[in-house]
Amino acid sequence: MNTEDQEHSHLRPGGRQHNQKRFTAMAAYKTLSTPKGYLVLIILSFILGYITHSQTQTQTQTQTQIPPDVSDLSEHNKFPNKCKHPVPSNHVRQTVLDRVFNGTSPFQGFPPPHITSLLWEDWAKGWGSNAPVFEHLINQVRPRVIVEVGTFLGASATHMVGLTRKLGLDTQIICIDDFRGWPGYYDEEKSLKMVNGDSLLMFQFMQNVVKANATDSILFLPFSASTALNGLCDWGVYGDLVEVDAAHDFHSAWVDINNAYKILRPGGVLFGHDYAWEGVRYAVHSFARLNGFQVKLDGEHWILY
Ligand SMILES: C[S@@+](CC[C@H](N)C(=O)[O-])C[C@H]1O[C@@H](n2cnc3c(N)ncnc32)[C@H](O)[C@@H]1O
Repeated sequence: MNTEDQEHSHLRPGGRQHNQKRFTAMAAYKTLSTPKGYLVLIILSFILGYITHSQTQTQTQTQTQIPPDVSDLSEHNKFPNKCKHPVPSNHVRQTVLDRVFNGTSPFQGFPPPHITSLLWEDWAKGWGSNAPVFEHLINQVRPRVIVEVGTFLGASATHMVGLTRKLGLDTQIICIDDFRGWPGYYDEEKSLKMVNGDSLLMFQFMQNVVKANATDSILFLPFSASTALNGLCDWGVYGDLVEVDAAHDFHSAWVDINNAYKILRPGGVLFGHDYAWEGVRYAVHSFARLNGFQVKLDGEHWILY
């Protein structure tokens, strides 16, 4: 390139940029060829390497935390498909006593003195607790074991005790309830005092069982429905009749029905309350369709056949 070329090179398209790039490259080369520059280069490569490595690691960790079959959308339908070998019906009471109450009846020494004055002599509210469906199904199935999911104050459970005794049956009824009430409970049910955040519902339920002279026929699992039903499944406790009457939103009813079905003795009947609730209805029909059942109605109750 002659002098004129050099002088006017910035007039050619890209000429000035070209010169600037050359100048920058030469300056970088000069800097890096000094010991200081060399040191900077090494530090820069180290930092760059570190950043790239930790980014790759985060990506790998995120990927390995996702189960490989997460794309299988039938996953949420997987409930235990086999429970333990069934214990005989006449061992059910002792099994529950041993597993939950350390072998001793929870009704022994009930009520504790500090609770007595806080309970109502007469408060056994329920919803459809004496409905004809109970008599129909107890006459039909003649159950040795009944599991009730959602018991509240025991109105339906104590009613069922009366019906089984009328038939001369020695039936155990296992009542499942967390006995906590529900959000808004105190606005609707101002009937009991709260003691240190406890609703006392379990004690009122127990008092109602004592009053119905049913402590030999009723035991309870004071846990969430899923925990209790999975416990029964693990212990091999099955019901000849299983009633679902806990929470009525679709997801709760769906999980309860699926878990309840696992502990239904072959030939037994699964039924429940509150067919009028959309969530319950949807869960019942979804379950029936997937498992080949017919849905029958008896008042407000649904029955699977
Ligand atoms: C409608 S009441 C049951 C009424 C009873 N079957 C009767 O007729 O007298 C519903 C009960 O289910 C219980 N419940 C709701 N969701 C539950 C859950 N996830 N686990 C345990 N209990 C639950 C509530 O505490 C409440 O006592």
